[in-house]
Amino acid sequence: MVRKHPPGHWQEAGEKEETENMNCSITREEALALLRTYNQEPFHIQHALTVEGVMRWYAQELGYGEDAEFWAMTGLLHDIDFERYPEQHCQKAPKLLREGGVSEEMIHAICSHGYGICSDIEPQHEMEKVLFATDELTGLIGAAARMRPSKSVMDMEVSSLKKKFKDKRFAAGCSRDVIRDGAARLGWELEELFERTILAMRACESQIEEEMQKIMAESL
Ligand SMILES: [Fe+2]
Repeated sequence: MVRKHPPGHWQEAGEKEETENMNCSITREEALALLRTYNQEPFHIQHALTVEGVMRWYAQELGYGEDAEFWAMTGLLHDIDFERYPEQHCQKAPKLLREGGVSEEMIHAICSHGYGICSDIEPQHEMEKVLFATDELTGLIGAAARMRPSKSVMDMEVSSLKKKFKDKRFAAGCSRDVIRDGAARLGWELEELFERTILAMRACESQIEEEMQKIMAESL
């Protein structure tokens, strides 16, 4: 399929009826196997599954249902190089992904999530902006969920997340600046990003728990 626009210059949401579907060149099974070739830490695999689920939810939510698999696989693979090459995050990824058969447009999207930190590829398409905005935020929400008696996002309210966001000592590794920048790039209030991302994480929580148990059992 020939693209009308070079990667990173896809049309915005309002014009999406004219765009062609994104080329998801990899199956979910292949993508998970590729992820696990370079990632063994349960924390990293869980993060990948979470961002996958969140991206799939947002694709539906924002009217990109036909491209949901592309959004989801981009989420699943976005940190592929981080565990093994933390100093070369987003720099090693293109090679690993190319070898795994991932399309150039997905590689572009993946590299754009490190914009301003470890990549000079700026998020341009709405899916790239969602990935950029939710990567750090899912980490913060996950850390907040682990502090709750339920250990879950199912009973987490936006107000409690706001408090955790303001408390700079809490999950200090989750960059508040990146989350703020991400919301601004989407043109959303922080509250909207929080609310939607909590809903997205609620939608995939139990499935991820199940899959993590399976993965952990396999790696014993
Ligand atoms: Fe990430």
